[in-house]
Amino acid sequence: MIRAGVMGWPVDHSRSPLLHGFWLKQHGIDGGYELLPVRPEDLETALRSLAAQGFAGCNLTVPHKQAALAVVDHVDVTAARTGAVNTVIVRRDGTLEGRNTDAYGFRENLRSAQPAWRAGAGPAVVLGAGGAARAVVAALLDDGAPEIRLINRSRDHAAALATALGGPIMVVDWSRRAAALANAALLVNTTSLGMVGQPPLDLALDALPQAALVNDIVYAPLETPLLSAARRRGNPVVDGLGMLLHQARPAFAAWFGVTPDVTPALRQAVAASLVAR
Ligand SMILES: NC(=O)c1ccc[n+]([C@@H]2O[C@H](COP(=O)([O-])OP(=O)(O)OC[C@H]3O[C@@H](n4cnc5c(N)ncnc54)[C@H](OP(=O)(O)O)[C@@H]3O)[C@@H](O)[C@H]2O)c1
Repeated sequence: MIRAGVMGWPVDHSRSPLLHGFWLKQHGIDGGYELLPVRPEDLETALRSLAAQGFAGCNLTVPHKQAALAVVDHVDVTAARTGAVNTVIVRRDGTLEGRNTDAYGFRENLRSAQPAWRAGAGPAVVLGAGGAARAVVAALLDDGAPEIRLINRSRDHAAALATALGGPIMVVDWSRRAAALANAALLVNTTSLGMVGQPPLDLALDALPQAALVNDIVYAPLETPLLSAARRRGNPVVDGLGMLLHQARPAFAAWFGVTPDVTPALRQAVAASLVAR
């Protein structure tokens, strides 16, 4: 049996067992995907013991994504660029490869939900400068966004991200977020605002062109207040669940040897779990 799992602390909230379990069943694979509660101080030991325990690899969630970078033996380009590892693969020789598939998940979510949309269509506004923002900005840069307006509560975090990634990133003050929407082709929320248990995102959308695509990577709730407000005024919207589902595909393929699809049935199963909690 091929084993994989997700390391986090805490980790109970993770939907990864549900979604990988769905694909294992769908493809009739003799494998398992487990919750792996690992304290921060035990991360290196836990990662180093994967091979001996028959694991093909694991996902990493809060608070391990950055720390894992220093543990793994090989790092892919996106993980190095974003400073975070969300997928670990145990190679045949027992060494550990760290990848970051969040940028892929973000890109594939937009592509599958809005196939005609292109990053080159115009300026992108990205709210937030945390771990997820790094993956989103890296994907937009790679896909040819002509300008990225990066807006974060702590301006220094946005400035650090802009320096780390380079390219046409303009750091804009949080207080100027509403005005920064003018002539944008994309608005992405990567802050935790709007998430269950967090304050709402306070943002007037008046300056945003009606054709601009609006994506919230927060997926709990599925329809955030930002997406509702954008939908009401006629903007095309994409929720964040697809990013979660798509980022899991390359990991599943590497561990279990089959590239799985994001189907309506999978989406339905994971969306139902969001409502249930
Ligand atoms: N759909 C997906 O697959 C996916 C993947 C990854 C993450 N996410 C979601 O994305 C969100 C961010 O995740 P992350 O890993 O990037 O978290 P993070 O590294 O902790 O970053 C949090 C971001 O939110 C901002 N923020 C937090 N509270 C705020 C407030 N009260 N006012 C203004 N800004 C505030 C932070 O600003 P400061 O810099 O000022 O603190 C920072 O930019 C979470 O809701 C997470 O669930 C979704």
